[in-house]
Amino acid sequence: MKVICTKTYEEMSYEAAKLLAAQIVLRPNCVIGLATGSTPIGTYDQLVKWYEEGRLDFSAVRSVNLDEYCGLDGESDQSYRWFMDHHLFDRVNINKANTNVPNGKAADPEAEGERYDALIQSLGGVDIQVLGIGYDGHIGFNEPGPAFVKPTHMVDLDPSTIEANSRFFASADDVPRQAITMGMGGIMSARKVLLIANGAGKKEILMKALYGPITPEVPASLLQLHPDLTVISAVDE
Ligand code: PGA
Repeated sequence: MKVICTKTYEEMSYEAAKLLAAQIVLRPNCVIGLATGSTPIGTYDQLVKWYEEGRLDFSAVRSVNLDEYCGLDGESDQSYRWFMDHHLFDRVNINKANTNVPNGKAADPEAEGERYDALIQSLGGVDIQVLGIGYDGHIGFNEPGPAFVKPTHMVDLDPSTIEANSRFFASADDVPRQAITMGMGGIMSARKVLLIANGAGKKEILMKALYGPITPEVPASLLQLHPDLTVISAVDE
């Protein structure tokens, strides 16, 4: 595990973007695993800047996103498909057909999970997976529970996640109660994992995840076993 502590959100974003950019330069048709939430926005802005300067080419890049709310489609501005289009995909020359987000409107979430895992396999796996971390230690939407769940699956969101994410909705009542998320198997299979965390409020859970016991009660703790984990954090006041 490599840990990079930065002073500011901007520095954290710059360091994270550097790793993603290096992957794209090294393998122009790489598969990048992407995350939503407030943490990666600065990273995506930096990648867009380098693209606009002619330093990065996304034309052959493929992407898979971690998760999507159940019941929302890409037209909804609260969906994660919309988030990705808005913050990254519509701002660079990525081929949208090569971008993948779980289908939150799938009639059969189990079948959707199987389809998504088969898709990741058919792409040859993920080269680098970006992750944020929730206050309860979730990664993707893998919430604390009695066991790590391996495949892409539907989850009931933890009340603390609903509360935290309500800032993106009119009220907590409007936050979908369920989501489809890549499982711990998909995340741990990525060849490289990049965990980013910002803000003093994330420090306690980040320390638990990286240095505490490995337990499904803190899903991110499993990352301690990943052979190529880089953590970039700006969590010190
Ligand atoms: P945040 O969310 O980046 O908005 O803090 C992180 C997460 O819940 O995974």
